[in-house]
Amino acid sequence: MKARRAGPLTGVLRAPGDKSISHRALILGALAHGVTEVEGLLEGDDVKRTAQAMAAFGAGVERIGEGRWRIEGKGGFSEPADVVDCGNAGTGVRLIMGAAAGFDLAATFTGDVSLRGRPMNRVLKPLGEMGARWICRAGGRLPLTLRGGGLKRIAYRLPEPSAQVKSAVLLAGLQAEGGAEVIEPEATRDHTERMLRAFGAEVLVSEEGANGGNARRIVLAGGQSLTGTAVRVPGDPSSAAFPLVAALITPGSSVTVEGMLLNPLRIGLLETLGDMGADLSVTNVREEGGETVADVTARHSELTGVEVPPERAPSMIDEYPILAVAAAFAQGPTVMRGIGEMRVKESDRIALMAAGLAACGVGVEEGPDSLTVVGSVRANHGVAGGARVATHGDHRIAMSHLILGLASDQPVAVDEPGMIATSFPGFLTLMRALGAEIEA
Ligand code: S3P
Repeated sequence: MKARRAGPLTGVLRAPGDKSISHRALILGALAHGVTEVEGLLEGDDVKRTAQAMAAFGAGVERIGEGRWRIEGKGGFSEPADVVDCGNAGTGVRLIMGAAAGFDLAATFTGDVSLRGRPMNRVLKPLGEMGARWICRAGGRLPLTLRGGGLKRIAYRLPEPSAQVKSAVLLAGLQAEGGAEVIEPEATRDHTERMLRAFGAEVLVSEEGANGGNARRIVLAGGQSLTGTAVRVPGDPSSAAFPLVAALITPGSSVTVEGMLLNPLRIGLLETLGDMGADLSVTNVREEGGETVADVTARHSELTGVEVPPERAPSMIDEYPILAVAAAFAQGPTVMRGIGEMRVKESDRIALMAAGLAACGVGVEEGPDSLTVVGSVRANHGVAGGARVATHGDHRIAMSHLILGLASDQPVAVDEPGMIATSFPGFLTLMRALGAEIEA
């Protein structure tokens, strides 16, 4: 795909369903007793893999309309008859392993080349402490076979700020004798805790406020059963980020994303763009299915580089690639620190953003856990573009560089654009509807 500069971007769109919440709705629906009806499910490849996996573990899974899915939970998982292939989805495989560990079964998990390269030790370690067993490739890589059942209580302090690890431990804890306790030194997205409550479980969350930080303790009693419920999935802020930043960097633009999730643990990008002087307005704030959602409008803005507070990282970890694009059009440097987790996402996102931006003529400095985008002398001074960027099959690297191309002097092309469908299947259609020139 190749993106080039055209006129202003204008219009109103609905962001696709939140990926994190979509995975959780399917998994909790499968663990629950009775029927769960989901509205607004993200029908991206990652989530479809989780739907297939839930059927493989014994749930009834049926698509009943656009974004509408019906899950008939059996109150637990049964042993799958074949290998469970989670595709590109780190969230999918890690949460499903946690849920599966609670049951007396063996299951073999695999994924695509990216997922097979990602660390699973971070979930295997706590699940092992609870009593699960496994055999896997070196370095805790997929494929691996997990044997679950007979779990005991754990009190686990997360070594890295990861909602996936927290969620895997909590889902395993549902079946563990004595439950589970997770301490997170930095708060991460809390969709699992919220949704467990919506399915009838008791989850106690307390602030561990030492050092002025935002640490949390999450306690879940064992042996709790879940009851199917209705889930309405809000719009994904991690996807909405692409059209919003596109509007900020393209002269004359004004774009509104309706129904975007504004969970306080997911709005780090909006805060940062606000600090950079972005013209953003949030209207029609409302509660939907236990989460806050709103309509967010972005208008073309003169941006200024900022130093992003490192403690903000968990609330915008997937948004640094697109923030780096906004930073390329800002006046002065933007410094992003404490973002080492970006190196173990679908790709090494620090390295790929540094390489892609440099190839487009943007000044960048890469550190082990940091990225600095030098920015221009004048705001909107311009970016040369004119590169073909290797995305290593990473959807967010692809979308970020296409957005860059919309405001660059020369077009920007990306390889493997098909991977965009893992999280944002309608990206091309929606961007074109706003006036973007993207050639497929
Ligand atoms: C997610 C958590 C984050 C994020 C991922 C989705 C989740 O990963 O990057 O896209 O749904 O729990 P980590 O938990 O590894 O930080």
